[in-house]
Formats: sequence, C-alpha cells, structure tokens
Amino acid sequence: MASETSERVAPMLVEDWERLTFRVNREAYRSPEMFAKERVNIWLKTWLYLGHVTEIPEKNDFKVRTLAGRPLIFCRDTEGEIRVWLNSCPHRGTVLCRENEGSQRRFQCFYHAWTFNNDGSVAAIPDDEAYQDVEEMRRSMNLRSVARMEIHEGYVFVSFSADVPPLLEHLGEAADYMTMIEEQHASGVTTLPGIQKYSVRGNWKLAVENAMDGYHFSPTHNTFVGYLRENGFAVTDEGQYAYNLGNGHSLLVLTGHGGRISMIWEPRFGEAEKARTEAHRAEMVERLGEKRAHYVADESHILFVFPNLLLFDIEGLSIRQLEPVAPGHTDVRAWQLVPREEDPESTALRMKTVVSFVGPGGLATPDDIEAYEAVQRGIEATRGAGDLDYSDMSRGLTDEVKGVQGRSIDEGAMRGFWRHWEQVLDAGLEVTGERPATFLEGREMP
Ligand code: FES
Ligand SMILES: [Fe+2]
Repeated sequence: MASETSERVAPMLVEDWERLTFRVNREAYRSPEMFAKERVNIWLKTWLYLGHVTEIPEKNDFKVRTLAGRPLIFCRDTEGEIRVWLNSCPHRGTVLCRENEGSQRRFQCFYHAWTFNNDGSVAAIPDDEAYQDVEEMRRSMNLRSVARMEIHEGYVFVSFSADVPPLLEHLGEAADYMTMIEEQHASGVTTLPGIQKYSVRGNWKLAVENAMDGYHFSPTHNTFVGYLRENGFAVTDEGQYAYNLGNGHSLLVLTGHGGRISMIWEPRFGEAEKARTEAHRAEMVERLGEKRAHYVADESHILFVFPNLLLFDIEGLSIRQLEPVAPGHTDVRAWQLVPREEDPESTALRMKTVVSFVGPGGLATPDDIEAYEAVQRGIEATRGAGDLDYSDMSRGLTDEVKGVQGRSIDEGAMRGFWRHWEQVLDAGLEVTGERPATFLEGREMP
C-alpha cells in the first residue's frame, strides 16, 4: 500500500495480483484537484449523453440543459434539424435563453437584445450601424455550437472536443443494448414529457458504482425485497452477470428476477396485462426472430455508458443522466421511455412500476441515494486515514484471473469503470504482481 507520509502523490488505483485485491484511493471522490482534472480530461474530451430526440419532437422545440457545467440549448431549428448551442450570448457571454423549455424560432438576449435564429445565425443586432462592417459582425457572431453531435437510436450525444472517434466507435458494444431497447416495440420508444430531477450529496462515480453493484441489492433494498417476497417472488442471484464492455462502459444482465412489462408477465401486473404480454411476445418473435426476441425480451439490462448515461431496461425503461457539480455534489436527471404506441393501461402500469422502484420517491432510489451520500460522508471523514483511505473493490477478482464470467454481485463492472477512468486521467496506478495480459471484456452475443 502506498505510503501516506511521503511527499509523493498516492496512486489512485492499487491492484495487487498476488493478494488479488483492487483498491481505489478515496481522494478520487473528494479532491477538488481530481474533480478539475476529470472536467478537463473526461467531461470536456469525450462523448456525453445530452438528451433524446423525442424530448424535442417538433420544429422549434427546445430544452435548456447543463452538461459538464456548460449551459446548452438543445433544439430543433425551423427545418426540424437538431442543433446544440452554447447557451451564452456571443456578444458578452450572458446566458441567452432563460426559459427551461418551450418552442420558439429565435432567442433574444435580455442584456442588449441581440437576437439569434434557432439555426444559430444572427437575426438582429440593435443599432448595428455603429459597427464598421455589419455583415462581418453578423457572420462572426452567430451562436457557438458544441464541437460534435451524433445520434444513435434517438440518443443525442455531444462532445466539447472535435478530437473524438465516431460515436458508434466510442459506444462499441454498448450501442447494441440501446438498439435492443428500441426493438422492444414495433413502434420504437419515446420519452414521456417531464423530467425527474434530484441532487445528491455525493460524487458522481458513487452513482456509477451503485448502478453496477448487485452486491448491495438485498441488504440495501430489503424493503423492496420484502415486498417482492410477499408477492411470491423468489429473489435470486442466479443468472445475473456483469460485463465490462470496454471504453468505461459496463452492463449488468439480470435474468430470473422480477417481471418486464409487456415482455415477462408477473401476477403484480394484473390479468389484463397477461394477455397483452402474450400477444406482444408473439409479435416480437415474428418481427425479430426467436433468438433476438429472447435477448430483447427475457433479459433485464442496466447499461452504463461512460461517463454520464445509465439506461435501466428492467421492469420498465428509464434514462438517467449524471451531471457532476462538485466533488461531493451530483445532479441527476431521469426520463421514462415508453413504446410510441401502446395500450394506455400498459403505459399507466409501466409508469407506476418504474417510479415505484427507480423513481426518486420509489422503493429503491432513496435507499441508493442514502447509500452514496453515506459513503461520501464517511469518505470525507476518513481523509488521511492511511489504509482506510482506500475503498475495496476486490470481489470476483478470483474469477477474473481464471477468466470466469463475473457475476453482478461481484465488483468486476466497477473495476472496468475505474481502470478506464485511471487510464483517461493518468491518475496513478500501482500494480503488484503480474497483471494478466487481458481482462474480461465484452460479451459474446449469438
Ligand atoms: S450580452 Fe447579449 S446582447 Fe449583449
Ligand atoms: Fe440500488
């Protein structure tokens, strides 16, 4: 273990392949320097999830959203094209659009009333005759865009750096799990209007760990587990795996647990839903073939797309976005996805079921938030506590060296995330013993 007494900076990750331990320096969660370094090396350098195309379905629709601390306007222009502008007036930098959402063709700055079309061009500069070259002013003062924007299956990603690979290359294997959500229904999926927002007094990486941590499910969510048991469900760890998909992305695959609306029926969904589920399953097999329909319908997935997107394809469908504000403060935004065309009773059931588990007032999320706020409090309190200053994520390393597929109740998905984090940050890695040439990565799909 690194010495805490010397001047040298302690490594952020400590892997010991002899004792099979994996430790994360707790400075990673609380240090303002690390947070600043992450901002530059991760948040301003890679693809970030911004929003879903169905949030702005019509021409001139817009949403205002902050990503990596930067205020943005996410809109469709008058031609229906998706645009992402920095929400800052090119004149002197004032935040331009002061509404959260709406529909408008132009944005007018309240300070000196410069006005911009939603395609970014200058619409009007009051008293522009005071400028020597008005045309040049208009040309050079249009809205500033993000460096890159690409869309996969309706998920809009942006980058503040032009120097990123194509989105699909970045997403790698994660891309197909997003496609599988779209394929669940012949009509595709759409976000429901409305957003759930909450703030957590914890580091953003604790939210990532929590989502990839099947180990906490039974102890932390014992109320929910009790509710499931009372309703006749066996809660099991069977058929639950964790995959490191590369590029920091990870995946939990969960089978043999609670139902999936319109795909796996359970008594708590009611009799009417049973018939609809059967009909929908038959339609899926017809449309996708037996094998693909099986993967799309029968597995629940929790997908993390590095660094800020979590997709819950479980009982229902939910998008969660992480926005780090400070080392110990994260804003979370969540949306529900529903089939574009679905029986209203199924949609109602879907909404009720999703919010009752992963919603901010559900049976799971408040437990999770309490867990990562408690971690943050404990971590703040143990600063400088020698060995205690490292968090342990060694579960399942024994399988990792043997090349056995990791379980969701182990910590392999977290290790994949942390290794990628360390790599992009060059945050400091200490390795004891021989690091295996390859780590388990990816998943073979038939
Ligand atoms: S700062 Fe926007 S018009 Fe002057
Ligand atoms: Fe949880």
